[in-house]
Amino acid sequence: MKKKIALIFGITGQDGSLLARFLLKKNYLVHGVKRRSSSFNTSRIDDLYDAYYKKNKNFKLHYGDVTDSLNIITLIKKIKPHEIYNLAAQSHVKVSFETPEYTANADALGCLRILEAIRILNYQKTTKLYQASTSEMFGDAKAPQDENTPFKPNSPYAVAKLYAYWIVKSYRTAYGIFSCNGVLFNHESYARGETFVTKKIIQAAIKIKNKKQNILYLGNLNSIRDWGDARDYVESMWKILQQKKPDDYLISTGKGYTVKNFVNKVFKKIGINLIWKGKGLKEVGINKSNNKIIIKIDKEYFRPNEVNILIGNSKKSQKKLNWKPKIPFDKMIEDMILFEEKNT
Ligand code: NAP
Ligand code: GDD
Repeated sequence: MKKKIALIFGITGQDGSLLARFLLKKNYLVHGVKRRSSSFNTSRIDDLYDAYYKKNKNFKLHYGDVTDSLNIITLIKKIKPHEIYNLAAQSHVKVSFETPEYTANADALGCLRILEAIRILNYQKTTKLYQASTSEMFGDAKAPQDENTPFKPNSPYAVAKLYAYWIVKSYRTAYGIFSCNGVLFNHESYARGETFVTKKIIQAAIKIKNKKQNILYLGNLNSIRDWGDARDYVESMWKILQQKKPDDYLISTGKGYTVKNFVNKVFKKIGINLIWKGKGLKEVGINKSNNKIIIKIDKEYFRPNEVNILIGNSKKSQKKLNWKPKIPFDKMIEDMILFEEKNT
């Protein structure tokens, strides 16, 4: 049987690197798009290059960018993928307030460009599209959120992603493209970017324990997130594209924790018990064993708008996709800590 061909935009990121591993294990031929950068940006997938490209050419990287229509159409024409996964995005919510135009270009129009390429090339019958939609689109909507909860996006990132969400649905009905949204809640792993709060907390906690850092500076400790394990979540992306009909699905664990809960758990797991004193910008986290302040609040890390509470109800995905999160929250944190201890 001919191998299935996947094309991943955003292969150098957390999800792209984990999805590539997942698809290679399923014997896909995986093509990935990396951006030109002045320094190497493929550290998350370098081992795949060695293991799969050098061995059997199952893995191939191409230069590209979702802001470049010509590049997208050329790649899709050449590769003729059965499945496209659009994971490419300026994915940092806080940064989207500082680069709103670029975020809209990459996160909203990037998806449109891929859909247009499928339409112009007349690949509707052969090429499916997965779009990385996000729980951030719910913004201020009441939790728990599900597929019927109205979106109330409140960041440039969320608004851009909402455009992509709707254009995916629109091209599905207008042109019969098998295009689907996975509305994924926060998901983390060893491969998580260092400026997202979970990875930032874990890296700092280990450095503080090893006396290589004195203080961890954080923003809002009270927001609640439904954190899942990215290794479970990339499986759902694949499952979404294996259904008979295209549809949109929400992927979450159903459990929410505050940022402060996360901080307490991480420090406890590495052997530091914390006590908290003060309020607001004056709140501090103190190492109970030596009374030293090791956590402070810095208003730099607050967003102009905060999304206070994201907790997802993924009943539809559990039923229709037969997907459910397998890796427990504590195991996810422990694996992230183990990775960091080995690599710090
Ligand atoms: P990530 O680690 O930030 O990865 C984003 C990827 O997109 C990177 O490979 C990045 O390349 C690439 N990229 C950025 N701008 C691009 C452009 N203009 N053209 C081509 N590629 C571009 O994000 P992630 O956590 O893996 O998330 C994957 C996708 O899911 C994103 O679309 C994100 O918005 C969405 N999402 C994530 C979560 C989550 O909790 N992780 C939840 C819901 C939705 P570089 O490596 O060169 O920067
Ligand atoms: N990044 C960061 N840094 N966040 C902090 C900090 C800090 O120092 N201090 C507190 N936070 C709070 C943020 O205000 C937010 O409420 C929460 O921690 C999580 O922040 P992030 O880890 O940056 O993730 P996010 O929820 O904003 O966005 C992630 O999840 C979305 C899905 O809901 C990203 O992966 C998005 O791409 C994704 O769409």
